[in-house]
Amino acid sequence: MKRMHLSLNLTEYGRHSGGWRHAVSDVSRIPNLEAYRHAVRTAERGLFDQAFIADTPVHNWGRSSATTTRIDPLEIAAALSTETEHIAIIATLSTSYNEPYDVARRAASVDTITGGRIGINYVASTGDATARNFHRARQLPHDERYARSNEFIEVATKLWANAPTADRPGSRVVHHGRFFDVDAVLDVRQPMHGRPLIVQAGSSAEGRDLAARWADAIYAGGSTLERAQEYYQDIKARAAAYGRDPDSIKVLLGIAPFLGDTAEEAAELQAVLDANHAEGADLVGHLSDLLEYDLRAHDPEGPLPFDLLPEVKSASVSQATLFTRMRARRT
Ligand SMILES: Cc1cc2nc3c(=O)[nH]c(=O)nc-3n(C[C@H](O)[C@H](O)[C@H](O)COP(=O)(O)O)c2cc1C
Repeated sequence: MKRMHLSLNLTEYGRHSGGWRHAVSDVSRIPNLEAYRHAVRTAERGLFDQAFIADTPVHNWGRSSATTTRIDPLEIAAALSTETEHIAIIATLSTSYNEPYDVARRAASVDTITGGRIGINYVASTGDATARNFHRARQLPHDERYARSNEFIEVATKLWANAPTADRPGSRVVHHGRFFDVDAVLDVRQPMHGRPLIVQAGSSAEGRDLAARWADAIYAGGSTLERAQEYYQDIKARAAAYGRDPDSIKVLLGIAPFLGDTAEEAAELQAVLDANHAEGADLVGHLSDLLEYDLRAHDPEGPLPFDLLPEVKSASVSQATLFTRMRARRT
């Protein structure tokens, strides 16, 4: 029997960028662990498989949000596991700005704390602002970030596979690669299921390949049914090419529901949130960040100045592709 898998994108006040301004949101307490607790307990009661915590190790990534402070995902995962019994918690970790030994050790520790309910959403991370937090003026090019991601997951996976269990001591992992040199025995007990769940969300060719090679589950955007289906088929084909059973990868397509007891109530909630969003957020600044082009001198009511926008950038291939398509359609 095929089962639907549900994952909650866990935030304090929902994914809508107007959520924090809603009357029920207590922003005086951000970061609000109680709001996380409430959300994850509700998701567990609703039979969700997992709750996922997004992250990017740089300040003020999304200008259209009040959440300019956060809690590191692995630490929240550990705290939230004591509030729940079954749900898995997926912590986002950057493969560009961490070391596999450290991540393998910390994740195995949280695996022990959570009783085997931890997963990792591996992200390559985008943006030079993040790179500047880690000794680099600029981020690595897109394909290099994904080459590092592949080697990162390979090393972490080897460390977990050779970690000590109740029945045997740990064994030595020696890895000399392009990005990492590791000669180590993990000193933390092997995760309960051999390794934490692997989740990924890339949508460029490199991102899809990484997912197809390693992931148990993928977070996907998919702006239309056709594109989502194309994405699904492509992932399954790539997984088969890696010798994997295509059914072993779950594609989790993102939706943003507005909930109410009636359709009218849901529509009303959406209208309130949309109004909050437009009123308070620096939308033009946010779009400028995404496009890597400062739109502030342009009429906010006018069309996008497509001819002035930069060509496809390396920051996020997927986003750039989307805007290139928009430019082609001039919409
Ligand atoms: C549902 C979802 C969640 C994501 N969460 C994060 C995140 O927490 N941190 C991050 O740096 N990127 C996140 N991303 C971005 C992806 O990791 C990826 O960079 C993006 O989809 C662009 O794909 P590409 O890297 O293959 O070009 C997320 C993407 C999706 C669709």
